[in-house]
Amino acid sequence: MTSDTYRQRIRQPSLWDKVVSAEAAASLIQDGMTVGMSGFTRAGEAKAVPMALVQRARTEPLKITLITGASLGNDLDKQMAEAHLLSRRIPFQSDPALRRAINAGEVMFIDQHLSETVEQLRTRQIGPVDIAVIEAVAITEQGGIIPTTSVGNSASFAILAPKVIVEINLSQPTLLEGLHDIYIPTQRPVRHPIPIVAPENRIGLPFIPIDPAKIAAIVITTKLDSSSTVLPPDPETAAIAGHLTELLKHEVAVGRLTDTLQPLQAGIGTIANAVMHGLIDSPFHSLTMYSEVLQDSTFDLFDAGKLDFASGSSITLSQAKYQAVLPDFARYKPKLVLRPQEISNHPEIIRRLGIIAVNTALEFDLYGNINSTHVGGTHMMNGIGGSGDFARNAYLSVFVTKSVAKGGAISSVVPMVSHVDHTEHDVDIVVTEQGLADLRGLAPRERARLVIANCAHPDYRDMLTDYVERALARGGQTPHIIEEALSWHAALRETGSMRR
Ligand code: COA
Repeated sequence: MTSDTYRQRIRQPSLWDKVVSAEAAASLIQDGMTVGMSGFTRAGEAKAVPMALVQRARTEPLKITLITGASLGNDLDKQMAEAHLLSRRIPFQSDPALRRAINAGEVMFIDQHLSETVEQLRTRQIGPVDIAVIEAVAITEQGGIIPTTSVGNSASFAILAPKVIVEINLSQPTLLEGLHDIYIPTQRPVRHPIPIVAPENRIGLPFIPIDPAKIAAIVITTKLDSSSTVLPPDPETAAIAGHLTELLKHEVAVGRLTDTLQPLQAGIGTIANAVMHGLIDSPFHSLTMYSEVLQDSTFDLFDAGKLDFASGSSITLSQAKYQAVLPDFARYKPKLVLRPQEISNHPEIIRRLGIIAVNTALEFDLYGNINSTHVGGTHMMNGIGGSGDFARNAYLSVFVTKSVAKGGAISSVVPMVSHVDHTEHDVDIVVTEQGLADLRGLAPRERARLVIANCAHPDYRDMLTDYVERALARGGQTPHIIEEALSWHAALRETGSMRR
């Protein structure tokens, strides 16, 4: 690679002599430091410096607190966990090896609403960030950093950290320039309203504004993001999408929504992606998204002519979709914006826009409480991510899941959830492939029978009915047989199945 290749991307000549190897840049990171790295749901993560840290951690004592936007791609969370590099990890992850280290108590994981991390950093409730490592398409003439496929928490990391390492990724097209909208809210308690009144509003800068003197090192990379691991829609996820479409049609029929709906948010993973995909065959049109991760379904909806605009914090695509979208990116770009995750997930904006939020549960209970994170009540899966930011503040808060997991050994509808991420107060609709329960305006007693009839798998309906009838006989606003409420999870632990 000639230096001309990357000099076009580093537009401030005073920074040219900052270009160093990943190892040299990583040497700025010392044992015990807090590092803020770019990366949000496998998109736009710094790639070379973390691997240089992994190499060092294999041969010298090196532990860091790592804060990112969300999960990282290219197996970085796995490599860092296996090299024992991480002492603390904030605010989200989705890697099996890191999950094991967290559940073994080796890595302290702070599972946080994605909108909150930088608020806590800014007010020094957590942190401080000693150094930021940010993947970029280019650095502007003024030293501004142009992110790649995610914004996540990168802007605040770069603004708050005293030192910044930039990874210029030459494989990311400069066409990404202009995609981002960097806005940092003013200080509390006198914060100005965030002036977004529609998903397509741009309110900030197309780069992260920092003092270029803070850029301590620049590393040149070429590795691409890893592709997403979501599976294509299957009959069950298609059924979930169908139930949700019927509900939305009903909302239009009774005049609560129009057939352009309201801005949509969809959570991560296979099920949420499939649900969005299902809108292709719906009567709705001119849709918009105000979401965080934009998955394959966003581009499927664009291609189907159903979606007018999508706002997010990252773009995470499957290999096939990546190959289709990238050469044609100029066509999609005017319909897209990537924002800092505190803006994509900001409660003020979610409430203002009246978002229809679709997130995924591991399990939900008879009363509409949701567990999205803890298997069996104790073991971390991925984290709450942005689901709480959206669920609490949405116009319509929907949770979806398949009615059973692990070949039917687990019912996703349980008497009482073993961990609560979203309380019954934040949940309007629950959906499985069996059907949908509209919980709005219903007291807990009314919810339970509806949830069993509409959402539970037939194999578990009698068990749930038996439980709820005996609980109702005991009374209460939210009836339970408290000594039995978690017995399904206990049975799963002891026998490998909730079935009796
Ligand atoms: N108990 C135990 N395991 C369960 C389960 C339950 N009740 N329900 C599902 N699972 C398992 C599945 O078997 C599967 O396991 P596998 O990976 O070993 O195959 C895994 O959980 C994922 O389930 P899947 O059905 O494939 O759904 P998904 O890919 O849509 O992921 C969540 C579902 C809940 C894990 C995922 O959406 C998540 O982490 N959500 C929380 C964060 C979030 O909502 N963010 C949104 C904004 S970022």
